[in-house]
Amino acid sequence: MKDLVVYYSLEGNTRQAAERIAERLHADILQLQTVKEILKSKMKFFIGGMQATFGVCAKLKPLALNPEQYDRIILGTPVWAGKATPAVNAFLKKFNVKNKVTALFTLSGGGDNDKCVRYLKKKLAHLRTTVALADRNHPDASENERKLNGFVEELINGQ
Ligand SMILES: Cc1cc2nc3c(=O)[nH]c(=O)nc-3n(C[C@H](O)[C@H](O)[C@H](O)COP(=O)(O)O)c2cc1C
Repeated sequence: MKDLVVYYSLEGNTRQAAERIAERLHADILQLQTVKEILKSKMKFFIGGMQATFGVCAKLKPLALNPEQYDRIILGTPVWAGKATPAVNAFLKKFNVKNKVTALFTLSGGGDNDKCVRYLKKKLAHLRTTVALADRNHPDASENERKLNGFVEELINGQ
């Protein structure tokens, strides 16, 4: 089975999780990048939060590989306003991949992972395995490693 880990990350938390998952699964990895990056000031919460709330699709930079050529996609997103990021919305809209996304990892700063998972489950009918991780500044981040191990094990056993 050919696996691809696809993720968006503004501040590195989701990237770190994505790299660990890809390494352990021996999967290819693809970072989604937007043409216009959100400012890393406090305005990001307002602008990004509004975009996520309304399900905006960002304009993506060209992808380095074709996600449609993979059997299974493991998708990662930070939680924004309880939803997915505009880059992930765009990815799911632009490419014919929804039926390949069977696993999801979400990163949140305040514990809104469940909300985001519920939101994405409505779009991803084949989603089976999920893991909710905490931002490195959140006390629950100490649980990330254990949760990631369980997530990867499930994916390996599910093959
Ligand atoms: C625009 C924006 C909106 C956010 N909204 C939420 C939210 O609704 N709930 C939450 O728990 N965390 C929220 N966060 C925090 C991020 O989910 C968290 O910091 C995450 O780890 C960031 O991942 P990254 O480092 O890969 O960008 C938000 C962050 C940003 C920038």
